[in-house]
Amino acid sequence: MRLTETADVWWKNAVVYCLDIETFFDTDGDGRGDIRGLSQRIDHLAELGVTCLWLMPFYPTPDRDDGYDITDFYGVDPRLGTHGDLVELITLAKDRGIRVIADLVVNHTSDQHPWFQSARASRQSPYRDWYVWRDQPPENASEGIVFPDQETSLWQYDEQAGQYYLHRFYKHQPDLDITNPEVRDEIIRVIGFWLQLGISGFRVDAVPFLLDTDGALDPEHLPDPHDYLRDLRAFLSRRSGQAVLLGEVNLPYKETRQFFGDEDGDELTMCFDFIGMQKMYLSLAQQDPAELVKAIRERPAPPEEAQWGTFVRNHDELTLDKLTEDEKQEVFAAFGPDESMQLYGRGLRRRLPPMLGNDQARLRMVYSLLFSLPGTPVLFYGEEIGMGENLAAEGRNAVRSPMQWTNSVNGGFSTADAAELAAPVVTGDLSPEHVNVAAQRRDPDSLLNWIKLLIQRYRETPELSWGDCTVLEHESPSVFAHLTECEGGTVVTAHNFSDQPATVTLAVAGAGVGVRAVDLLQPLEADVTEDGTLQLELEPYGCRWLRILHPGDRYIL
Ligand code: GLC
Repeated sequence: MRLTETADVWWKNAVVYCLDIETFFDTDGDGRGDIRGLSQRIDHLAELGVTCLWLMPFYPTPDRDDGYDITDFYGVDPRLGTHGDLVELITLAKDRGIRVIADLVVNHTSDQHPWFQSARASRQSPYRDWYVWRDQPPENASEGIVFPDQETSLWQYDEQAGQYYLHRFYKHQPDLDITNPEVRDEIIRVIGFWLQLGISGFRVDAVPFLLDTDGALDPEHLPDPHDYLRDLRAFLSRRSGQAVLLGEVNLPYKETRQFFGDEDGDELTMCFDFIGMQKMYLSLAQQDPAELVKAIRERPAPPEEAQWGTFVRNHDELTLDKLTEDEKQEVFAAFGPDESMQLYGRGLRRRLPPMLGNDQARLRMVYSLLFSLPGTPVLFYGEEIGMGENLAAEGRNAVRSPMQWTNSVNGGFSTADAAELAAPVVTGDLSPEHVNVAAQRRDPDSLLNWIKLLIQRYRETPELSWGDCTVLEHESPSVFAHLTECEGGTVVTAHNFSDQPATVTLAVAGAGVGVRAVDLLQPLEADVTEDGTLQLELEPYGCRWLRILHPGDRYIL
């Protein structure tokens, strides 16, 4: 059976939505969102068209890295709810056609994790070798620090242990030694546990770091890290044929491709496209899509059943680490000139709308790109209504403010006092008073309704997710145009990156008499000449999706 006619490889055309339970909806009035709150709001996601919910870490945590510092891989943080609440959520989501995936953060634990507590207490501890120890830090101990404003070394001396331990991230997050077979087995058990509760896979945190103990062990004797990833995937697939691994791999394309595994895709099911994302911002800053075009052309094709995960923003800083220094400065100048908007000198702690001066046409164009470029789109909560950031919050927390449901107190997120909230609410032009779900549900011209439309069209247009994609050549430097084809269908899109109107002439496949181009986003049509030419007028930051229709074609339009 054709894969496009089944949901067997559901991730190929999924709509993934990432959220942090803590900042989504609070039902018990303690200022912190909870699992029951998310369950109550599941229909917001269903109505939007989300098909996969990615839950940021909900495990017990001292919360020094927003839950990415875990003290029990099998637990649920009691402040958020119970295992019972989680199973109810998964059941409700399933009823709405939404799969749930969870963050798998096994590069490190919290230093409060009982394993680390035991490991540091004695060299005889059964957990000592679960972490990476050294008597002296290596010479390159300060290379490759992820949080350079907070850390100066990858190695921390521990008084109690009498040795240094490796920590890729904060010093309160000691790295697990993934070369230790006991650690490997434990991670497998963690995966098996959550699958059994009904989870459909994982977003795998920091994959390249997870697989590499960073020179801590003799590289000659390191097992091939990709073997381990293959083992994980094989186990996952044995337990659940529909489960996925969506990996955080921010590396150049060639290296990232290796994380998909061989031709059959036997490692990660999906990898985030960090390069395409960064090049998109550069192109937006330049009002010229040339850099994005280059990225799309260079991007390796994933194995047939694998997919790129595409995104505009996520919960971390908008990293620009793969751009040159000049390119990065261009993006900073356009979208985050103030130092308070920047982080670690390599990224922006901002959401998209304020970066674009809340220009609605430009915002809509960016989301139109997200849903029409090849890859599985991943949204970060609040993007659907155009939420802004809160620069008064610390570091990356700027983009992690509470979901804005209504224009009332705390944006309808919680009834607690403002001082009790898990994170402060956005203030200013994009505060809940101006940006909220309730108002946008009622406004047919809202961003929310635009994104719903994009999702609906994306879901019913297999060309976009399954098709072969060609970037079209034309004479207008500000326009990105691409054509996707799948099983006899053809869809053409055009996006204007400039604040000036543009006209493009595109050569589309399948010339002939009576060929039409029907707009999928608005009630418009364009003529295709007999020699297969399509002329399009685009407003400033305009975008169009057109299906090429031949006489006798049968499509929902
Ligand atoms: C990943 C997460 C980030 C976290 C880090 C350490 O990069 O996206 O939020 O701080 O891993 O777990």
